[in-house]
Amino acid sequence: MQARAPLMIEHRLIERFLSVIKGVLAKIESQQNIDPVFIDIAVDFIRVYADRTHHGKEEDILFRELNNKPLIAEDRRIMKELIEEHVFGRQTTEALIAANTRYRNGDETALTDIAAKLHILTEFYPKHIEKEDKLFFPSSRNYFTDEEDQAMLAEFREFDRKMIHEKYQSVVEKFERRL
Ligand SMILES: [Fe+2]
Ligand SMILES: [Fe+2]
Repeated sequence: MQARAPLMIEHRLIERFLSVIKGVLAKIESQQNIDPVFIDIAVDFIRVYADRTHHGKEEDILFRELNNKPLIAEDRRIMKELIEEHVFGRQTTEALIAANTRYRNGDETALTDIAAKLHILTEFYPKHIEKEDKLFFPSSRNYFTDEEDQAMLAEFREFDRKMIHEKYQSVVEKFERRL
């Protein structure tokens, strides 16, 4: 298995969740309401799975290793773009959380903002995934030997192994801070 395989498998689950979001968006439009708990779960998926677990491996391992390689200008440009898109994803998620809080507190106009942010995520994220799957991952593979690629795969696995512990440690810490 190549190092990019687990990243691409994760892309497939992210795409499935984006389809779920699209279904919810259709419901928002027809019913003019949303269960704020769904947004909580969507935010958790985006933050913990898509951002921390998935972008974490891309940025902290793959991009870190690529920074030590003599990337051609085009590949460096795309890597910068991908990092900016990760930042944009985080900002959109923060705005979604803010809109959900307003909605929970009775501000019905926040529904439009929730729908707008969900719409942005379903529009931009598939393009980001496609850019990685079809363009950036294949071209970045050329900078690594088989041994280096396998070393990254091993580091990805070690990164993943820690995630479930990190997630639930943060849950406990969050409630401890509230006490
Ligand atoms: Fe990415
Ligand atoms: Fe990705």
